[in-house]
Amino acid sequence: MAEIEVRAERTYSVRITGDWRGDLSPLVTKRSRVAIIYPATMAADMPSLVFGNAEVLTLPIPDGEAGKSATVLNYIWGELAKAGFTRSDLIVAIGGGTVTDLAGYAAASWLRGIDWVAVPTTLAGMVDASVGGKTGINSPYGKNLIGAFHSPISVIIDPAWLKTLSDRDFAAGLAEVIKCGFIDDEEILTLVSGKSLSEIRSNSGLVNKLIERSISTKAKVVSEDFKESELREILNYGHTFGHAIERVSDYAIRHGEAVAIGMIFVAELASLKGLIEDDLVARHRSILAGVSLPTSLANVPGASNWQSLYAAMALDKKSRGSNIRFVILNAIGNCGRLEGVTEDELKSAYEKVLA
Ligand code: GLY
Repeated sequence: MAEIEVRAERTYSVRITGDWRGDLSPLVTKRSRVAIIYPATMAADMPSLVFGNAEVLTLPIPDGEAGKSATVLNYIWGELAKAGFTRSDLIVAIGGGTVTDLAGYAAASWLRGIDWVAVPTTLAGMVDASVGGKTGINSPYGKNLIGAFHSPISVIIDPAWLKTLSDRDFAAGLAEVIKCGFIDDEEILTLVSGKSLSEIRSNSGLVNKLIERSISTKAKVVSEDFKESELREILNYGHTFGHAIERVSDYAIRHGEAVAIGMIFVAELASLKGLIEDDLVARHRSILAGVSLPTSLANVPGASNWQSLYAAMALDKKSRGSNIRFVILNAIGNCGRLEGVTEDELKSAYEKVLA
């Protein structure tokens, strides 16, 4: 249906298709072995996959953030070792962002890097996690601090998977779509504005368009700055505060929900500094609330503890030395960076999203 090219340490395509098995098959058939990594909760959806003469290892992992751990990675390495996985074998990740992150890191680390393919099954996975080659695991030290840049050889997106998502997970994926609207592509905001979550979900043509436009934004940014020397940071709009919220809540809320609140926080912070128009801050709230995303910390466990949130923000990968750096929006499609912010200023922005 659509094909978008990403240029990184290799050039690969993101294909939006109605037949993920048909697109996957030619990538596998010439291999001796393929490891399919997927969440255990999807076991019933896993058909008995056959690809020519390739030996197929099916490796279920725990669902959600729990699957993205050193323990699970160790299990995967053990299974690859038992099967005698070589450099010409292939890993295929079928699942949400936690699965593609973990499986991609298994591929990055096994024999110093083997091929892998991402088959994302959630909206967040399709528009963000599976594209761009960021792979990794969680650790007690923070989210995504351990990982590698290792691009897949292909990303195969079949929007039919989205029928299995809860409304909450679909909305969480829309947060990353809306983020692409703010940082790059105003047409996304126009397409989403004034429509409820169910109106968007039930319009498959619109959903496909939103997926394609969001991936186009991501592909453009990643192709210019794969290793995040600076430009790629804009994909982390709302993520500094968002990651901190996820951490203090012990991952009780969805990543996209945290990013939604994080975008409002940083818009409020930019507003305090006179760097963004008030109506654009208000537009953040109205678009995100319109698709049933949270716009405040009211229901986030642990978020009343400012000191923990502040400490968690300091661990962000954009920080340099003791300086917390934020991606801010000066206008739609025009991002800046903000640093040297005092704790009092941060706390004032926090108070604007507290309730
Ligand atoms: N999710 C942000 C990035 O891929 O850079």
